[in-house]
Amino acid sequence: MAALTLLLVLLIHLHIAFSLFPLAASRRNSTILPGSSLTAATPNNSYWLSPSGIYAFGFYPRGGGYSIGIFMVGIPQETLVWMARRDDPPVPGNSTLRFTAEGGLILQSTFDTPIAKPNDIAVSASMLDSGNFVLYNSQQNIAWQSFDSPTDTLLNGQYISAGMELRSAASDNDTSTGIFRIKMQDDGNLVMYPINTEDTAPYSYWSSSTNGQGDNVTLNLAGDGLLYLMNGTGTYLTNLTDRGLATPNIVYRARIDPDGIFRLYSYNMTERGNWSTVWSTTNNKCEPKGLCGFNAFCINVDQVARCQCLPGFDFVQSGNETSGCQRSFTAESCTATNAPASYNISVVSNTVWEDNSYSVVAVQTENECRMECLQDCNCEAAYYQVGLCNKQRLPLRYGRRDLGSSNKVFVKVGQMTPGNRTGSDPQRPEGRRKERIRMDILVVSLILIAVALAIIIACGILLYRNRVWLYKTIPTVGTGRMIEDVAPRSFTYDELVTVTRDFREVIGKGAFGIVYRGTMSNGKAVAVKRIERVSTDGEREFHTEMKIIGRTHHRNLVRLLGYSFDVSNRLLVYEYMSNGSLADLLFAPDKLLCWEEKMGIVRNIARGLLYLHEECETQIIHCDIKPENILIDEQRCAKISDFGLSKLLKPDQTNTYTRIRGTRGYVAPEWHKNLPVTTKADVYSFGIVLLEIIGSRRNMDQSVPEEEIILENWVYDCFEAGELHKLVDEEEGVDRRQLERMVKVAIWCTLEDPSLRPPMRKVLLMLEGTIDISSPPRPTSFISSI
Ligand SMILES: *[C@@H]1O[C@H](CO)[C@@H](O)[C@H](O)[C@H]1NC(C)=O
Ligand SMILES: *[C@@H]1O[C@H](CO)[C@@H](O)[C@H](O)[C@H]1NC(C)=O
Ligand SMILES: *[C@@H]1O[C@H](CO)[C@@H](O)[C@H](O)[C@H]1NC(C)=O
Ligand SMILES: *[C@@H]1O[C@H](CO)[C@@H](O)[C@H](O)[C@H]1NC(C)=O
Ligand SMILES: *[C@@H]1O[C@H](CO)[C@@H](O)[C@H](O)[C@H]1NC(C)=O
Ligand SMILES: *[C@@H]1O[C@H](CO)[C@@H](O)[C@H](O)[C@H]1NC(C)=O
Ligand SMILES: *[C@@H]1O[C@H](CO)[C@@H](O)[C@H](O)[C@H]1NC(C)=O
Ligand SMILES: *[C@@H]1O[C@H](CO)[C@@H](O)[C@H](O)[C@H]1NC(C)=O
Ligand SMILES: *[C@@H]1O[C@H](CO)[C@@H](O)[C@H](O)[C@H]1NC(C)=O
Ligand SMILES: *[C@@H]1O[C@H](CO)[C@@H](O)[C@H](O)[C@H]1NC(C)=O
Ligand SMILES: *[C@@H]1O[C@H](CO)[C@@H](O)[C@H](O)[C@H]1NC(C)=O
Ligand SMILES: *[C@@H]1O[C@H](CO)[C@@H](O)[C@H](O)[C@H]1NC(C)=O
Repeated sequence: MAALTLLLVLLIHLHIAFSLFPLAASRRNSTILPGSSLTAATPNNSYWLSPSGIYAFGFYPRGGGYSIGIFMVGIPQETLVWMARRDDPPVPGNSTLRFTAEGGLILQSTFDTPIAKPNDIAVSASMLDSGNFVLYNSQQNIAWQSFDSPTDTLLNGQYISAGMELRSAASDNDTSTGIFRIKMQDDGNLVMYPINTEDTAPYSYWSSSTNGQGDNVTLNLAGDGLLYLMNGTGTYLTNLTDRGLATPNIVYRARIDPDGIFRLYSYNMTERGNWSTVWSTTNNKCEPKGLCGFNAFCINVDQVARCQCLPGFDFVQSGNETSGCQRSFTAESCTATNAPASYNISVVSNTVWEDNSYSVVAVQTENECRMECLQDCNCEAAYYQVGLCNKQRLPLRYGRRDLGSSNKVFVKVGQMTPGNRTGSDPQRPEGRRKERIRMDILVVSLILIAVALAIIIACGILLYRNRVWLYKTIPTVGTGRMIEDVAPRSFTYDELVTVTRDFREVIGKGAFGIVYRGTMSNGKAVAVKRIERVSTDGEREFHTEMKIIGRTHHRNLVRLLGYSFDVSNRLLVYEYMSNGSLADLLFAPDKLLCWEEKMGIVRNIARGLLYLHEECETQIIHCDIKPENILIDEQRCAKISDFGLSKLLKPDQTNTYTRIRGTRGYVAPEWHKNLPVTTKADVYSFGIVLLEIIGSRRNMDQSVPEEEIILENWVYDCFEAGELHKLVDEEEGVDRRQLERMVKVAIWCTLEDPSLRPPMRKVLLMLEGTIDISSPPRPTSFISSI
């Protein structure tokens, strides 16, 4: 019976091969010996065939030249399933591919390029019927195989192991690396991302939701079209597809396509029709993030993804929808006085975007959000969700139409540059009249806006009087203009006694006092901080803190919800951070943070600090950045807390002399030298915290060998000696290049001369790898002289 089946299979194969390639038969040889070679432009010797004649390894035409890959020469589509050095330019027709025992496969063109480097002396090679090209050593063991370095396609028998990914091609014609990837993560989750992003949820656009199923999960494709995840002991964890037909006549392949969708295809070898899609990660062509480039959003039109620019934007390359969009007007310089007049707001409904808010403001109406953005020179667009106005800077990314979303995007639009007007304004000759009408509209709008403002202010005052709602809006002193204030609510002492159930549960102790856990009447958990050392000084600081925190809104700052102030009690009510402080996580004996999480926290802290230093209304120097003051919320997002020691700076006064604040070990050298203290003091403390995050230990640790006691010095020693791996635990999954970048940033931040330390804006760019970081100078240690 078995023999019969075998014969049948063989017959079918022979039938296919011979009926298609009567010529191919003569040069077919499944065993390739050292010394063999292929030449690109010779029709009878440009590839090696598999025994069935379906797969071929060799040159395929590409962009006027040739590249090397594996393709299904046995079907009319000649489908490419593997590419060697896909991002190298094509080679000319006289190039040869040579197989040598020691060097494996070498492409000889203008210069020699290794294509397959065996891990042993290769005595033979073979193009297998599975689509795998293999080099064998003298024991007939595999010394190299194409299945180990997949490109965009997964074949039957091949698997993607943990940590590996498939990357899409740029387009159907261009096989070089495109803009999407599907990664088999170490945590067991199979996730799709745009290329060049971190492996974190905000970037992902599809996942198998199988995380936590073990650390050695593989993605496999069976011969019957079953696409499944399996763990190290061979247990089926998840089946992504159903079983199909398992006959030699049906061929399956899974590929991440240039449009970012991962699809399973089947091909009927007897019918010889087309590939048909059996399964795909989504039917929505707009789902892959980044399809449309910057400032554009994707719309599904008759199953085709089209890109559309935001209002006031044009495609960077006209006619190229994937090139992204840029403003079609030249932005006037914006100042506080001309802000509302120099722009208009256009609205785009039902779209979703990446949220990169630099500020989130609680608003009551849509129109308030519109005004928020118009009046803020930093705001270039704002997303309005019910009750929240998320202010954004350009570029906006990952936009797509989503009819299920009630989001509104307000986009600032300026005056078109003359001559740059597009066809959308056919009434040029009537410009004068139009302008007069527009003036009228402007005046009417301004009056309406003024009335609206008056009403809002009146409501604000009423709300304040009645203390009905948690948030209220207040006008700034002097200008009467609405600002992004949603001031904290004032509580009575008795209310807070109820909230904290008579101060029962202590959750921490800060520099100023004890922190209690509480629950608001709506069930929301809060942290209530009792300020203990009440002096005249303390009272002033209390007021300072109120004022400053009331005006800060950033997702990397802990939000102040309210306060209580009476003769003997000063209490602050903060949002509750369920994961404690960075110190709890970082210095715990059992490692609770992996490298990626740590890097996320570092960026969060940097963003929060950047906001304090440059983006909020009054510059704030924190003065006490340390792991205890970095709190971690449920989503493990880090937020900076405790601005109680912050010093308010007037905009024109950048230097300030004060007595030492802050915590030993984190304070910048200038504090001790009576030098002016600037935002660079926070940069220093940030640098120390960064070092501690990298090393998962305190800056000063007496329990380690002498040369390692002061982390700062030890890090520099390791950096100079090129031994950075000593600083980290290999198991954390540390990215070496990122580690080096982090260490360099930390050294720059902790330099003794404040002027040499980079500002937070630059620190953030350095952390993200957006700019190159030059080698830092040798620091002079300061800690030891305290
Ligand atoms: C096929 O491979 C064998 C080695 O297995 C070799 O002896 C023979 O010459 C090869 N035939 C051709 C046509 O290259
Ligand atoms: C390929 O064809 C050329 C002539 O067309 C012939 O000289 C050469 O021997 C052939 N090579 C192989 C490997 O059959
Ligand atoms: C291939 O052809 C180019 C010209 O098209 C020539 O410059 C080059 O030397 C040739 N290379 C080999 C290996 O013959
Ligand atoms: C891509 O290939 C198609 C045919 O498959 C062709 O019509 C089109 O012009 C090609 N595009 C480019 C940029 O080469
Ligand atoms: C694979 O999964 C099975 C069932 O969930 C489990 O018993 C086994 O320990 C897992 N193996 C590994 C290596 O995680
Ligand atoms: C992962 O699983 C494979 C078998 O699927 C096994 O050979 C390998 O040793 C495992 N690796 C680890 C780190 O468990
Ligand atoms: C996946 O499919 C295999 C083979 O059909 C089956 O044994 C296994 O139980 C399935 N696993 C799940 C989780 O459905
Ligand atoms: C493949 O094509 C043949 C011939 O058209 C047909 O008989 C067979 O049912 C097809 N197989 C599948 C699985 O569709
Ligand atoms: C295969 O698909 C293409 C377009 O996807 C179509 O133009 C062509 O006619 C199809 N061929 C067959 C044989 O169905
Ligand atoms: C369109 O723009 C993208 C992104 O800039 C670029 O990669 C692509 O080559 C362009 N396509 C054409 C046809 O110019
Ligand atoms: C718009 O005008 C600017 C300068 O006035 C010019 O550089 C740009 O190319 C113009 N854009 C279009 C789309 O005409
Ligand atoms: C805003 O819109 C009004 C009315 O359409 C128009 O008169 C005014 O010029 C616009 N302002 C800008 C900066 O485009």
